[in-house]
Amino acid sequence: MSEQAHFTRMQDGTLEEWQIIGAAHYEHFKHTADTYIDLLKSLEQHTLGFACDQLQHALMAGTLARRAGASNEHIVIALCHDIGKSINVPNHGAIAAEMMKPYISEDSYHVIYNHQAFQGEYYYQYLGAPTDLRLQWKDESWYPLACKLVDEWDAPAFDPDFEVDSLESFIPLMREVFHDKPMALG
Ligand SMILES: [Fe+2]
Repeated sequence: MSEQAHFTRMQDGTLEEWQIIGAAHYEHFKHTADTYIDLLKSLEQHTLGFACDQLQHALMAGTLARRAGASNEHIVIALCHDIGKSINVPNHGAIAAEMMKPYISEDSYHVIYNHQAFQGEYYYQYLGAPTDLRLQWKDESWYPLACKLVDEWDAPAFDPDFEVDSLESFIPLMREVFHDKPMALG
């Protein structure tokens, strides 16, 4: 649809113009999966001092989740848990969680949001920080999933020689999870 609204201030918008805008947004939703796939690919340029680049890390985490028999959503969150690093690293968990929030369960949202604190068990002692931060959430419904994602799929996924499943093999799952759906109002 090539139609556009003509108002220059929202105060002047008409029903017809908002219908045009609404239809354009529905079209845009269809490209979410492609955008996220491109962001995932961009992680290849970031090694960040690890033994492998961040795309290999993502694919290895996704592959481990798939081979463990995880659900499609859990495979996708394992694959995309660090996608926020394509924007910035310090709050990458929050970025990734908010990016995926409209498409994933509330439990998965909390897992992605807080995964770095769970990883702290392995290295926060080197930063002079507590390593048991995860325990503050031990009674939450998503605690077991967070432990599984971090301990079994994320933390062991820095092997540059591990034969990962291809990014292409995950694309159908990404299209299934990041489907075209309307944004929440608010
Ligand atoms: Fe990670």
